Amino acid sequence: MSSVLRTDAMREVVESDRAHVWHHLVQHKPFETVDPRIYVEGKGMRLWDAAGREYLDAVSGGVWTVNVGYGRESIANAVRDQLVRMNYFSNAAGSVPGALFARRLIEKMPGMSRVYFGNSGSEANEKVFKMVRQIAHRHHGGRKYKILYRERDYHGTTIATLSAGGQPQRNAQYGPLTPGFVEVPHCLEYRSQWGAVDNYGERAADAIEQVILREGPDTIGAICLEPVTAGGGVITPPRGYWERVQDICRRHSILLHIDEVVCGVGRTGKWFGYQHYGIKPDFVTMAKGVASGYAAISCTVTTEAVFDLFKDDPNDPLSYFRDISTFGGCAGGPAAALENMRIIEDEQLLANTQRMGERLLANLRALQQRHAAIGEVRGLGLFCGAELVSDRKTREPAEEKKVQAVVADCLANGVIIGATNRSLAGLNNTLCLSPALIASEADIDRITAAIDAALGRVFG
Ligand SMILES: Cc1ncc(COP(=O)(O)O)c(C=O)c1O
Repeated sequence: MSSVLRTDAMREVVESDRAHVWHHLVQHKPFETVDPRIYVEGKGMRLWDAAGREYLDAVSGGVWTVNVGYGRESIANAVRDQLVRMNYFSNAAGSVPGALFARRLIEKMPGMSRVYFGNSGSEANEKVFKMVRQIAHRHHGGRKYKILYRERDYHGTTIATLSAGGQPQRNAQYGPLTPGFVEVPHCLEYRSQWGAVDNYGERAADAIEQVILREGPDTIGAICLEPVTAGGGVITPPRGYWERVQDICRRHSILLHIDEVVCGVGRTGKWFGYQHYGIKPDFVTMAKGVASGYAAISCTVTTEAVFDLFKDDPNDPLSYFRDISTFGGCAGGPAAALENMRIIEDEQLLANTQRMGERLLANLRALQQRHAAIGEVRGLGLFCGAELVSDRKTREPAEEKKVQAVVADCLANGVIIGATNRSLAGLNNTLCLSPALIASEADIDRITAAIDAALGRVFG
């Protein structure tokens, strides 16, 4: 860490933060006696805080974002050069990096063809919701307006995306929510709703169809699903699930919206999570890893067939997507995204993600042999979870405070891990790991060694 950051000026930063910054997702009462956490520098997989302590970051910036790691000068330079040349014009017009990035992105997504830029994952998802409603108004007499979402999935923080959120604790105290969103059952076999069944994946997909038939297929425009559920507990889909979901969508003419905000751009070892399952989506949304946090950018990607629905009648003043986002597609975002993509390709980070993901899963499974507290290990690529239980036989979930104690113990020992929290009452019990795609074997082993020690101390 550079010495300039170790001066007394840092005390002023900490006090300014304590006095004036309202942090995301945290209770502030403890900051009356404890310093808020401030990270001041990052390089590769490592971070340094205001006190100069070093950490290994196993969660890519806390929320599975910094896919190519910290301190990438080439991304910073690409953004700088773009800002000096042309920093902004509304996305009603095009930009050089916007056009080039859209083409590079679509090359990775056979079957898709149009990119609508925004600023955040929530915004990208909300664009889809607006598109689905507009399609319903223009092409289905206003009927096919409902959007299905799945129990335990999360799609964002705005009121409309919370309305599509299957995590009741996150929604608590923010109602009334937006009408027109309907929940379908989760697909976590470890917490099977139907006891032990042979074909759990198909059964969970059939449960979606039951909801469709109950609501009336002609009322439902789209279904929004995470390919692998992230904050709801790192839920990898069961065998047979996606094939059946795709078939159900086709039979009932329901558009398939895949939320790749976490999985997108390499996290699972392929460019997109849905590409593991042969899915043909109508909408794909992405944000976090698109520029690895070097700039704010999100993308709502559609097929040409969806796009065509918005230019059917050029004489009608309402026959286009009447949506704007001032900063969406602003030139620094796609400039960062282009360079981010180049790094993933040139450094072969997808292959590294597959290899290191297998190592991470294997290490976690080895821990499961030794720690009764690990009920199940799940994951795909560098996106893994370990569900903690107080009783392996009954699968009684571990208490949230014990799960948080494991996270705190790792942090105290210099490794930042995550856990599901305040999302699903009684089920906030999954440790979450999403190291940068550059992780080495030594990084992976250090992460799991920290968890090993923490589980020993917290659960005995
Ligand atoms: C699957 C998923 N979708 C959407 C979002 C919302 O993204 P943002 O926080 O950028 O609005 C998140 C955020 O964690 C997410 O995990």
